[in-house]
Amino acid sequence: MKITLAKTSPLLQPNFVFGVATSSFQIEGAADSREPCIWDTFCDTPGRIKDNSDGKVACDHVARWRDDIELIAGLGVDAYRFSIAWGRVINRDGSINEAGLAFYQQLLDALQAKKIKAFVTLYHWDLPQYLEDHGGWLNRNTAYKFAEYTDIVTKAFGDKVYSYATLNEPFCSAYLSYEAGIHAPGFQNRQQGRQAAHHLLLAHGLAMRVLRKNAPHAKNGIVLNFSPCHPASNSAADVRAAEMADQYHNQWYLQPLLEGSYPPLLAELATDEQPLRVDGDMAIIAEPIDFLGVNYYTRTVYRANEKGWFSDVPPTTPPLTDMGWEIYPKGLTEILLALHQRYTLPPIYITENGAAMPDSLLQDKVADQHRVDYFQQHLQATEDAIKAGVDIQGYFAWSLMDNFEWAEGYAKRFGIVYVDYVTQQRTLKNSAIALRDVFANRR
Ligand code: NOJ
Repeated sequence: MKITLAKTSPLLQPNFVFGVATSSFQIEGAADSREPCIWDTFCDTPGRIKDNSDGKVACDHVARWRDDIELIAGLGVDAYRFSIAWGRVINRDGSINEAGLAFYQQLLDALQAKKIKAFVTLYHWDLPQYLEDHGGWLNRNTAYKFAEYTDIVTKAFGDKVYSYATLNEPFCSAYLSYEAGIHAPGFQNRQQGRQAAHHLLLAHGLAMRVLRKNAPHAKNGIVLNFSPCHPASNSAADVRAAEMADQYHNQWYLQPLLEGSYPPLLAELATDEQPLRVDGDMAIIAEPIDFLGVNYYTRTVYRANEKGWFSDVPPTTPPLTDMGWEIYPKGLTEILLALHQRYTLPPIYITENGAAMPDSLLQDKVADQHRVDYFQQHLQATEDAIKAGVDIQGYFAWSLMDNFEWAEGYAKRFGIVYVDYVTQQRTLKNSAIALRDVFANRR
């Protein structure tokens, strides 16, 4: 039931930041008071979302934000990570949605009043549909639009924000969205996937320059997802497949940011599969960052396929989460150490870590022991990485509460707080209680 950390654990040092995380489309609802985004369109397309659900109500957070802030504060966290819906602050005609902006401002004020640090993500996948109508992330201009949007919100938020992340998991916004077709807008084309990735990285770099100017005191950076890539066998072909997958899914995003170049695999793509780049882009992308957010859930196993490319081998041996993802805590230590050895890293925050489990609410309780164990093991893995020399300054549990899990809809529950979608009642799961005790015992 409990999560235990050694008294001397670096995670219990006063400056280590503990928080919980959410994102706009996944919790907000109130779709009528913002512009439609690509996920609204995707949800309206039959067959795209497993349970045919949408984000129109979600956790009804826009109406219930005051209670949700109390919920967050009650957990004893140092920080709350959430995202801004682009289409809730800028209208199709370029004018500002004052009510939308005010919504986030009051949220920030309430966090400040509770002394909870605001970690704001500027883009967590909900691209306004009006931009998708002009090509979305395939259109270079979207990167410049993102910089304009960043300018508007950072000026409006002043010094209320402790940390800005430009993008959340550009891998998903590029690969899953334009190349694998499982996330909005649902395209399937390798060149498009690579092009979207390039424009997302460009958007990040342009926005970093705005953040430097408008929010010089905030910690400004980006959030990437990482999954260690392991070969399915010792064969040279599988080992090579895993190495390619690592370049394609992990290093593709980090190497440009830290070294201003793409991994060597780029040169192995056919010319018409490579992203178009303009001279000077890589210098913009490599704008220094104050921190790197690392999202970690699982490892991935790869084998070589007939096309000379790599295919993932879905895990079958337990323990698996409700997503079918292998529970593999040492992968977190492994990836952090690998990145640390390979790059000169800025300080790291674990910006997401957590598990979907088949929870049930029984007599006002959710006995999610598997999730408690998951957090115990991954906090330990984080501690191991710190002890091995990685500069990790914080850890955020994904997620504050059950919410819209993208193409999986509402069936997958990642929250440490249970949400009854009929009554919108929130109930602390045992994992929330266990984490709250960890946070409280530090003081
Ligand atoms: C990463 C994403 O940032 C988040 O939106 C999602 O819910 C979790 N992974 C779980 O899949």
